[in-house]
Amino acid sequence: MRSLSMTYTDRDGRAVHALDGIDLRFPEGGVTAIIGASGCGKSTLLRILAGLETAYQGDVEVAGAPVQGPGLARGIVFQDHRLIPWMSVDENIGLALHRLTADERQARVAATLSLVGLSAFSSAYPAQLSGGMAQRVAIARALAHRPRMLLLDEPFGALDALTRMQLQDELLAIRARERVTTVLVTHDIEEALYLGDRVVVLSSRPGRVAETIDVDLPHPRARNDPRLAALRLALYDNYFHS
Ligand SMILES: Nc1ncnc2c1ncn2[C@@H]1O[C@H](COP(=O)(O)OP(=O)(O)O)[C@@H](O)[C@H]1O
Ligand SMILES: [Mg+2]
Repeated sequence: MRSLSMTYTDRDGRAVHALDGIDLRFPEGGVTAIIGASGCGKSTLLRILAGLETAYQGDVEVAGAPVQGPGLARGIVFQDHRLIPWMSVDENIGLALHRLTADERQARVAATLSLVGLSAFSSAYPAQLSGGMAQRVAIARALAHRPRMLLLDEPFGALDALTRMQLQDELLAIRARERVTTVLVTHDIEEALYLGDRVVVLSSRPGRVAETIDVDLPHPRARNDPRLAALRLALYDNYFHS
């Protein structure tokens, strides 16, 4: 992203300056975590990257090509799973694979489900899944067409603490196997530091890059690693303490 800015017009016709002058690179195969206060433009940034928001100023490129709309090169997961309730798990995942033959599609769905450990639930319906399982299916759906980028917008925000930790570890396992370039938006500092190779802090609105922190700790990381604790305290004091 180069000089990325975004201004919305709200219902009363007033300009809402959401993002301002964002310059960011997302290293291939790495996890970039983006944190910032509510309303600072995190979702806007991710939606722009996904091609869901095109009325921005500046340049946004993925693998050298400008982002001009949604595409299969980027899979996105939101806080809610957004699965289609009357379709089974494998039908939900297969939905985006219409370009494959039926055999290829079936094989891809099976492989992706096994990646998130849900092979036994291929014919279940979303209402039969726990919140954590439904989010795993949403991640599988995003990965099924082998995107270059996985975009996650507070994907674990609605889960209980234990399930959230499980899914964080699962995401690391997936990432180790797939090496997909990942952008994780979160308001959870600990999550950002535990998962991110790099943590980008956005200022409050309009969102600007306030700081970029490289987290040079190999995985698996200990959640109680004192170096993570020190980074968390510094971030908290600098940006989230009011
Ligand atoms: N479609 C929209 N129309 C007008 N304002 C919007 C729209 N979407 C987001 N905003 C505003 O832009 C700012 C950034 O929103 P968002 O990207 O959702 O922030 P975050 O995800 O960090 O909470 C907020 O002030 C929000 O109210
Ligand atoms: Mg948001």
